[in-house]
Amino acid sequence: MTAKPAPTDIDIHELFSGRWSPRAFSDQPVDRAQLHQVLEAARWAPSSSNLQPWRFLVFDRQRHAAEFQRAYDTLMPGNKAWNVTVPVLICVTATTVTPKGDPAKTAAYDTGAAAMALVLQAHALGLATHQMGGFDRDAFRSAFSIPSDIQIIAVIALGHFGDVDKLDDTLREREAAPRARKPLGESAFEGAWNRAFE
Ligand SMILES: Cc1cc2nc3c(=O)[nH]c(=O)nc-3n(C[C@H](O)[C@H](O)[C@H](O)COP(=O)(O)O)c2cc1C
Repeated sequence: MTAKPAPTDIDIHELFSGRWSPRAFSDQPVDRAQLHQVLEAARWAPSSSNLQPWRFLVFDRQRHAAEFQRAYDTLMPGNKAWNVTVPVLICVTATTVTPKGDPAKTAAYDTGAAAMALVLQAHALGLATHQMGGFDRDAFRSAFSIPSDIQIIAVIALGHFGDVDKLDDTLREREAAPRARKPLGESAFEGAWNRAFE
């Protein structure tokens, strides 16, 4: 299954409705030029004062198998199950202090924007991504000696769509589950708090 378009209420660009988070990945490596492209898209994300607080730590299985394995080992068991064939893991981190030494108040926001740019560029290239919060951040920090002022946020699985039939029953069911979101009025208000945008 390579496509699972969102059943949107109104028409939006395919880049947004077409992106989704699969669990069936093939073991085909990601072309280095394409890997470069997704990171370049993230690089051009907007950020407060153009501080670009994001730092991506890339693990390309075909280049750095041992390091890839150490990153994979920090995933929660539920995520390990479907990441066995994933060719690239990207850890998303952010600096928590500005160059002036102040707390970086929008670092998480800026870094989320960069991560989304990465994910959407991957989708535009026909690649699959699946972001994960389910990993051991302390283990990751210690495995890669990440400095204490860096916030470790997420890991993105990047690769090619794979064969759903190779997943176990539970994962196959999840793969087929319909995509859903809260109604717009629960996340967009207008004029007053809790007054649903209509
Ligand atoms: C920050 C973040 C953390 C996530 N963590 C996990 C995870 O640990 N395991 C997992 O299977 N999916 C994870 N997801 C994927 C979400 O469950 C998924 O994006 C959501 O259900 C919406 O589905 P869609 O991306 O296909 O639209 C995560 C997504 C984000 C953005």
